Amino acid sequence: MRIVLREGRVIDPASGRDEVADVVIEDGRVLRVGVGAAGDAREGDRDTRVVACNGRWVVPGFVDLHTHLREPGLEYKEDIVSGTRAAAAGGFTTVCAMPNTKPVNDTRAITEMMVAKARSHGVVRVHPIGAITRGQLGRELTEMADLKDAGCVAVSDDGRCVTDAAVMRRALEYARTFDLPVVQHAEDHALTAGAQMHEGAVATRLGLKGWPRVAEDHIVARDLMLAASTGARYHLAHASTAGSAALLREARGRGIRVSAEVTPHHLTLTDEAVMGYRTACKVNPPLRERGDVDALIDALADGTLDCVATDHAPHAAIEKDCEFSEALHGMVGLETCLALLLDLVRAGRVAPGRLVDALTSAPARAFGIDAGTLREGARADVAIIDPDRVWTVDARRFRSKGRNTPFEGRRVTGCVERTFASGVEVYTFVDAAEVAR
Ligand code: DOR
Ligand code: ZN
Repeated sequence: MRIVLREGRVIDPASGRDEVADVVIEDGRVLRVGVGAAGDAREGDRDTRVVACNGRWVVPGFVDLHTHLREPGLEYKEDIVSGTRAAAAGGFTTVCAMPNTKPVNDTRAITEMMVAKARSHGVVRVHPIGAITRGQLGRELTEMADLKDAGCVAVSDDGRCVTDAAVMRRALEYARTFDLPVVQHAEDHALTAGAQMHEGAVATRLGLKGWPRVAEDHIVARDLMLAASTGARYHLAHASTAGSAALLREARGRGIRVSAEVTPHHLTLTDEAVMGYRTACKVNPPLRERGDVDALIDALADGTLDCVATDHAPHAAIEKDCEFSEALHGMVGLETCLALLLDLVRAGRVAPGRLVDALTSAPARAFGIDAGTLREGARADVAIIDPDRVWTVDARRFRSKGRNTPFEGRRVTGCVERTFASGVEVYTFVDAAEVAR
């Protein structure tokens, strides 16, 4: 079976391509890409399907470095099937699964179980991330060789920070021997004890205990020093402050091997969104202020923050429909990611090619994953995007089990129209309004 994606705007930063061209897929791989690559292939030709892509973007399937799939143990929030379906709906064909499951993914057995389940039941590719420390308790290191051998692409204690500098230093040294990136959730828990949201005027007005920027910044500063002295691969999860962006920019300038991600919500919302005690906006790290958001956007635009990652964190309704102090941290992100970020492109803040790079080849590079390009011979993981289509966020229609989005009811512009994983169409957009008519 041959699939021809005809005359879309093909944006593939890994091969330096941004032009109106055809993509020809055969046997799950990209056979040819280029102007006129489809020749005279027509709908109705035997064994050929033609998808007209005029006015659409044709891009590599997105790679998410930070997804909470919640399996094993927390399947009431999400599981590998629902989470990978949500990924496909967001244009993602590869997701990296965080280890704060129940039990924590700190062993070969759990990694192998996840890989097997994802292979048999997942609709997109899943790469587990193993824990840095046993039980994510911040003390003893995990068997990183086993984790890597079983399929982990990185290690992280996400949800918790590795605060002990000696443990972090040993983790970087140990991970380096296996060339595994160490992903830090930067938060000095001593400075955030009891904190509910960003420390600032809004927290004061709401009477909530605040979470200072410095709790993130000084961990990032320390980690960059440790990364430089160990030569390990360091990756900063969900950067949320202007300080983190400045520290990363400076470290990159000195040639330190770092990568970093920023989430769609930290790029588009401020702490003002929490007004009214909106638990949908309770997230870790917290939503910051306009100055931070602007610094994060600039850092995404110039590549200091090389990756966008969703931190898709589904929770059950009961865990969010409660007092603010009781609500769990996190919001779902896979299915709204693209539309939110296209606003930054339309505002002229981030170039289209940079955005696609941050969702595809940059994350693939950060974790050494074979994905994120439409080069000839690559696996045919492709997203077709209609950048102008207007739709309304309706959490009831999410593929995710999580409905915890602060964007409910928002009119957004730009949608993922189709997603192909290894040449198989795993998602097709259906407009609810059109169905209703
Ligand atoms: O908001 C968050 N939710 N931040 C994290 O670091 C963890 C995540 C979760 O697992 O729910
Ligand atoms: Zn985190």
